[in-house]
Amino acid sequence: MTVLGDWGFTNRVNRIIKPKSGRCVMLAIDHGYFGNIPGQLKDFKNLEPLFEYADALMLTRGMLRNCVPAALDKPIILRVSAGASMLKELSNEEINVAVDDAIRLNVSALTCSIFVGGEYEKQSLLNLSKLVNWGQEYGIPTLAVTAVGREMVRDARYLGMASRMAAEMGATMVKTYYCENFDQVTGICPSPVVIAGGKKIPEKDALQMSKNAVNNGAVGVDMGRNIFQSDSPIGMIKAVRAIVHENASVDDAFEIYKNGPKGL
Ligand code: 5RP
Repeated sequence: MTVLGDWGFTNRVNRIIKPKSGRCVMLAIDHGYFGNIPGQLKDFKNLEPLFEYADALMLTRGMLRNCVPAALDKPIILRVSAGASMLKELSNEEINVAVDDAIRLNVSALTCSIFVGGEYEKQSLLNLSKLVNWGQEYGIPTLAVTAVGREMVRDARYLGMASRMAAEMGATMVKTYYCENFDQVTGICPSPVVIAGGKKIPEKDALQMSKNAVNNGAVGVDMGRNIFQSDSPIGMIKAVRAIVHENASVDDAFEIYKNGPKGL
């Protein structure tokens, strides 16, 4: 018996996680949605040279409409949650984009954060449920971001639990932070996992973190600041790509970064 699956859903996933390597480099430029506007993100109009090196862009609809040419052939992971700034309680966010607008924008996935253990934990988990339900209805995958409040410990126990909860709720992909014993996070999470880059760290350390993540079961990265705040954003994204897609060594990837052009 032939069972026809959901072609649109599968096609969207395959546009993001590349079937050839089973891996993915997402470029995160959604930081401004809660008021975090670091370094190069201030020059938001100049980010375009980076886009061709990303497998997918993770951003808000404002960034998409203002900074991304509609001719760009890259899958879009649209952040559809907002409502809290970094000046107040970050977990107090809701879904702020109608699914109709996401479809109008031709997105390949929807994303929101979950704040497991946070003040508005339930609200954030129900936000994710809403996206999963829309995703089922319209064939759009969901990326759940396990956001970590100031008071949360970024260890394998916590991040593994949050990632597993997201997967059990139906998230297609999970984005979480890298931590020690990361195999315990990916090992407990049935959905593909990508890591966030986190705050800017030295380039070699960010490459080592990417290497450790894929060696321990991540399918890739969803990295922002460690790319666009680098002195060579293009060198850095190419170096991360070499690790994620070609299993390059950290030393070889570091050479790619060093040979990259300065600035954007
Ligand atoms: C926070 C987000 C971020 O905007 C994204 O993770 C930032 O990426 P990076 O940490 O690599 O700068 O989704 O929940």
